[in-house]
Amino acid sequence: MEVDTLRLGFIGFGEAASRFAQDLSQAGLRHIVAYSPSAAKAVLDDAIRKKADDAGVELLKTPKAVCERAQLIVALPPGSKALAVLRRVRPHLRPHHVYIDASTSSVKDMEQAAHMLDGVAPFVDAAVMDPVPINGIKVLTVASGSHAEQFRAALEPYGMNIQVVGEKPGAASAMKLLRSVCMKGLAALLFESLEAAQRYGIADVLAADMARFINGRPFEQIMKRFVCGTAIHSERRIHEVSESLALLKSLGASTRMTRAIRETLQQITDMGLREHFGAREPETIAPVLDAIIDAKRAQRT
Ligand SMILES: NC(=O)c1ccc[n+]([C@@H]2O[C@H](COP(=O)([O-])OP(=O)(O)OC[C@H]3O[C@@H](n4cnc5c(N)ncnc54)[C@H](OP(=O)(O)O)[C@@H]3O)[C@@H](O)[C@H]2O)c1
Repeated sequence: MEVDTLRLGFIGFGEAASRFAQDLSQAGLRHIVAYSPSAAKAVLDDAIRKKADDAGVELLKTPKAVCERAQLIVALPPGSKALAVLRRVRPHLRPHHVYIDASTSSVKDMEQAAHMLDGVAPFVDAAVMDPVPINGIKVLTVASGSHAEQFRAALEPYGMNIQVVGEKPGAASAMKLLRSVCMKGLAALLFESLEAAQRYGIADVLAADMARFINGRPFEQIMKRFVCGTAIHSERRIHEVSESLALLKSLGASTRMTRAIRETLQQITDMGLREHFGAREPETIAPVLDAIIDAKRAQRT
């Protein structure tokens, strides 16, 4: 796909698509078209028309019209509607199109979407990793599937920040969902730790101390220390976490996350990771993860 003849269409023209369109237009991309149910019905004075005009986007009445005008089609509906939207667009897709689903969807839905387009048109699974209103097209968009590289090559010259994360449709969505386990988990841990600290009257100093710890080194080092260190020292840490749990209970605070921490530490201890690594912290995270996967497989057989 030549950059200067790129024809881009959006299916869904909400917060994310309209901001992407605006930034891409400003970067010099022409011929952007878009469809959404409300945009199709919009009359001259409607806010969505003004938004489209400001972004240099032509609103079209149907997905079919978008397919007739655009070659690269980026779908940004709510994730729950990704497959329903694809079913509607599919009859109008041809092999020259590339259909990119950038909604926040399940891995299964993205695999199914790829299956639905097999032999019809190339499919790319994409995931927008952070809020679009803050950084616009500079937000990291990860992409996977056999044509992910084509998507990257077409839109990176206009400033989009696209990282290809594999050949498998679903990998991009998996990346977003698995990052959420950690990020949302950190939020839940902060709630538990700080709620108890607030009850005790030390929330401010505790928050400052945790910030000092996290700010004190790159997060790569923190991850390595957390994973590799825990693999070796899990048994010793069970005692401390048990004391933390007793304190939370005595304060009447939530204990859900701390109970899970203790369970995780016990499980790692039972897997014998310390013995497996000869009580020496591995240099990288991957061997720890492999050892955990192997131990779980061995437990199942
Ligand atoms: N906004 C962000 O910062 C952000 C960040 C990361 C990921 N995402 C993901 O990006 C996707 C879009 O998010 P958003 O914030 O832009 O949502 P939004 O503002 O709610 O916009 C959704 C758009 O999809 C359209 N739509 C709904 N049903 C449709 C259908 N059947 N056919 C075609 N279009 C349809 C809506 O049209 P109507 O206006 O007619 O309802 C609307 O234009 C979501 O999956 C979201 O999780 C968004």
